[in-house]
Amino acid sequence: MYKPVSDMGLKNDFPIFKKNKKLVYLDSAATSLKPQVVIDKITDYYQNYSANVFRGVYRISEKATYEFEETRKIVAKFINAQDVNEIIFTRNTTEALNLVAYSLGKKIVGKHDEVASTIIEHHSNFVPWQVLCFELGAVFKFIDIDKKGYLLEDLEKFISNKTKILALCHVSNVLGTINPLKQIIKKVKKINPNIIIVVDGAQSFSHIKIDVKDLDCDFFAFSSHKSLGPTGVGVLWGKKEKLEIMKPFLYGGEMIDEVTFEKSSFKRSPYKFEAGTPSIGEVIAFKEAIKYIDYIGVDKIREHEKTLVHRSINLLNNEFKNKITIFGPDNVEDRGGVIAFNFDKYHPHDIAAVLDTMDIAVRAGHHCAMPLHKRLEITATVRASFYLYNNQRDLERLVNGLKKVERILK
Ligand code: ALA
Repeated sequence: MYKPVSDMGLKNDFPIFKKNKKLVYLDSAATSLKPQVVIDKITDYYQNYSANVFRGVYRISEKATYEFEETRKIVAKFINAQDVNEIIFTRNTTEALNLVAYSLGKKIVGKHDEVASTIIEHHSNFVPWQVLCFELGAVFKFIDIDKKGYLLEDLEKFISNKTKILALCHVSNVLGTINPLKQIIKKVKKINPNIIIVVDGAQSFSHIKIDVKDLDCDFFAFSSHKSLGPTGVGVLWGKKEKLEIMKPFLYGGEMIDEVTFEKSSFKRSPYKFEAGTPSIGEVIAFKEAIKYIDYIGVDKIREHEKTLVHRSINLLNNEFKNKITIFGPDNVEDRGGVIAFNFDKYHPHDIAAVLDTMDIAVRAGHHCAMPLHKRLEITATVRASFYLYNNQRDLERLVNGLKKVERILK
C-alpha cells in the first residue's frame, strides 16, 4: 500500500542515541530529539558571541542580532508568511495562543458574543478561551467529534455570526486526527466572514507542509522544541492587519518606542510583542532545525510517519487483537504520527513504566486533553508518537515491550 521509506539512517545525527544505544524514543509529540547541528549552533552562541540582541553597537551583539533575525526570515519563508514582521517569537505554543487571547480576544469579544474551540484541543488552546469567555461574559462553545475522532461537519451548530473567534488544532495530540483546515476555514468563513481563525499547529509544524497564505487562517502557533529545535522558543504567525490592531501582551524592555512620565508608545509587530530579553541562543539555533527538516523534506517526513503509523496499527492489532483499543481515525491519510491506545485492563502509567524498563519512552496520561478523555469516557491513554528518526525496529520493540507488559502485569 505505502512504499516503505527506508530506515532513513537518521539516528546517527542525534547524539542522544550514542549514549542511549537502546533508546526507543516514542514521545516526539511531547518534545522532539535534537540533532547535532542544533546543539552545535546553540553551543557556538554561548561560547563565542553570547551578547544580547538589538542593544549593542559592538560586533558580537551585532552578530547575535543578525543570527536572531535570520531565524525570523527562515521561519517566515518556511510557512510562506508574506511578511517577516508577521513572525513573533514567544516562549512556546501555549504563550503564543495566550497572546492572541489576551491581545486580541479581550479587544474584540464582548458580553454575549461567542468563542468556539473543539473538544480535541490541548488545554493550551482550550483553557485560555474558556477563561476569556468566563471573564467577559461571553459564550464558550466547542465542536464535538464523531466516533472515529473526526470533528463534526455540521459547523452551523457551533459557529454563528456571533462567533468572534474559532480556535482549533491542526493535528490532535492524542487522536492524531488531521483537521482538514482549509475546508473548515472556508466553511466557517461562509457562515461568518469576520470570524478570526486561530490554529494550534504544535503537532503539525514540520510534520506536514504549512502554507499560512493558502490556509487563510489568521493566526498559526507552534514550538521549536517539537521540531528538532531548542526549548524556550515558540512562534506566533499572525496576519499583519490583525497584529497591527492588537495591543502588546507584555510591557518592558525592547518593545518601546518612547516612554514619558505621562504615557508610553510602542514599536510595531513583531517587537511590540517581544518584551524583554528573548531566548537568544535558542532562537538562533532553531533555524538549524528548520534547515535540517528542509533538507530531509517535510513531504518525506510525512510519508515516513504515515508508513510508521500504518505499520504500527497493523502490528498492534495483529499481535493483541481484542486487547488493544487504538483511538482516532483508521485512515492514515487523516492522522499524524501519533497513536494513543489502551491495552487490556492495564493502567497507562503501569504500561509506560514497564516499557521504560526496556528503554522505550512513551507518554501516559491525559496528555493535557482532559475534555477529550472525558468525551471518550476514559481517564488516560498510552501515547506513542513518531518522528523522522523512528524506524521499523522501534515498532517491533514496542510490540515486544507490550508482550513484557502482559507477562509482568497480568
Ligand atoms: N503538548 C505536548 C504533548 O502533547 C507536551 O505531549
